[in-house]
Amino acid sequence: MAKSDPNWSDVDDYIVRHLIGEDPALDACLAANDKAGLPAIDVSPAQGRMLELLARSIGARHILEIGTLGGYSAIWLARALSDDGRLVSLELEPQYAAIARSNLERAGQSGKVDIIVGEAVSSLSAMKESQAPLFDFVFIDADKENYAAYLDHAIRLSRSGAMLVFDNVVRDGGVIDPDSDDPKVPGTRALYEALQNHSKVDATAIQTVGSKNWDGFLLAVVRA
Ligand code: SAH
Ligand code: DHB
Ligand code: MG
Repeated sequence: MAKSDPNWSDVDDYIVRHLIGEDPALDACLAANDKAGLPAIDVSPAQGRMLELLARSIGARHILEIGTLGGYSAIWLARALSDDGRLVSLELEPQYAAIARSNLERAGQSGKVDIIVGEAVSSLSAMKESQAPLFDFVFIDADKENYAAYLDHAIRLSRSGAMLVFDNVVRDGGVIDPDSDDPKVPGTRALYEALQNHSKVDATAIQTVGSKNWDGFLLAVVRA
């Protein structure tokens, strides 16, 4: 059972009212996803805005996302880019990718975004670091089982100084339970283990509560 508290959502509503405001394109995206039966596991509005601001603050021009779903976080990330920037987003399910493309189109962002359908590990393996430009910012939010593999690919395909952000690294606190019956936990723990004394990145993780309950983001920066 997900641990939740109605106060967390009320505070998220307050944050959105003051700092984000109405956003018809994002509302339409969530409505289309719901209508198509997609799981409501997108980032929250406050989290999406955080991704946009992080990417903007480092002047990201080339962003990679692993796990598109209906394109909600992709809309936020695409908004961080100037007109000549690119977002590459990887998604397993062709039906989700089609909905994401239509949501990005409605949001006026489709010209900046390439969605690649398939197993992300395969798509990443086909991407060569010699194919510049390297990524400035990577958002990892697909199957948690492959998080350690996604870390390796993200480092390989990113410039030094790039920021990597992983979603869902706390999972109601389940991450500290080595015997967790949540199949997603071992993959997430493998990410932390890979990052312990890592030679190429510095990392931290921040716990969050809100409309998406108790979870967290892991942030890493690729060393020079
Ligand atoms: N980033 C999205 C939410 C992503 S949900 C948002 O915030 O709006 C996770 C997505 O990863 C799902 O759409 C799921 O289909 C996709 N996924 C799961 N396993 C995958 C894999 N092996 N390769 C690529 N995508 C995968
Ligand atoms: C799940 C996946 C996510 O990316 C998320 O943010 C929440 C839940 C899941 O697979 O359960
Ligand atoms: Mg997620």
